[in-house]
Amino acid sequence: MAVQIAVAGKGGTGKTTFAALAVAQLVKAGKKPVLAVDADANANLHEALGIESTDTIAEIMARIKNNLEPLPAGMTKDQYVEYRVHRSLAEGDDVDLLSMGGPEGEGCYCYANNVLRSFLDSLAKNYAVVVADNEAGMEHLSRRTTQNVDHLFIISDASARGIRSAGRIKELVLSLGLKVKEMYLVVTKVAEGSIEALQGEIDRTGLKLIGAIPLDEQVIEYDLRSKPLVDLPGDSPAVLAVKEILQKVHLL
Ligand SMILES: Nc1ncnc2c1ncn2[C@@H]1O[C@H](COP(=O)(O)OP(=O)(O)OP(=O)(O)O)[C@@H](O)[C@H]1O
Ligand SMILES: [Mg+2]
Repeated sequence: MAVQIAVAGKGGTGKTTFAALAVAQLVKAGKKPVLAVDADANANLHEALGIESTDTIAEIMARIKNNLEPLPAGMTKDQYVEYRVHRSLAEGDDVDLLSMGGPEGEGCYCYANNVLRSFLDSLAKNYAVVVADNEAGMEHLSRRTTQNVDHLFIISDASARGIRSAGRIKELVLSLGLKVKEMYLVVTKVAEGSIEALQGEIDRTGLKLIGAIPLDEQVIEYDLRSKPLVDLPGDSPAVLAVKEILQKVHLL
């Protein structure tokens, strides 16, 4: 069974950056193939991974719902949906990417989530690791699309508000009784002295700080030029920090 990794956190904290760099490290260490799941309606994990995007689950569901893709004879709707989900996987080197997409008309988003939830388990069997990049905030937690997770990385930027928000995510995971084996805090875009200044806030969350990712000029530059983050040099500070975090939790 694949190891399930999920990334959560407030908007713009660095979830997608962390997810993409984690995928790259896992592949490099031979923990492959990896299934990357872009569970953010505003999909952009494909760019960070340098993979051509394909149909999102939401788009497929909308087409099936509107009879733009009639069911082949002898196939139930669920079977057809499963077949289309498999076909929608964007394939990169050692990484496949599944994109959820956004709401396309009423009800579609929920249905897409349900589909994802029910197929992900069977799909995951083909992979060594699944890495899910979630949308900002806590919706995915209450919708229970983030569960059966082995490692949940809660990402915060180096701000007190970010850390408090990470603390609320942790509380919600606990109060919903989600199946999450391990939860950690990752602070990103860290400058000299930020962790020390935030230590009080960090302690109050009760989360285990598993690592800090420095503010990395190259990450900013790659983002500006829409260059895949997986091409960042191995000695870039962000890459090294993600590697260290994955080693700490024995994923590498
Ligand atoms: N370690 C870092 N150093 C410098 N810039 C970073 C770092 N991590 C992320 N960023 C920048 O911060 C911005 C947000 O990062 P990212 O897209 O990874 O966040 P996100 O949490 O996925 O955002 P969203 O909530 O919109 O999905 C991007 O411009 C990214 O380049
Ligand atoms: Mg993102």
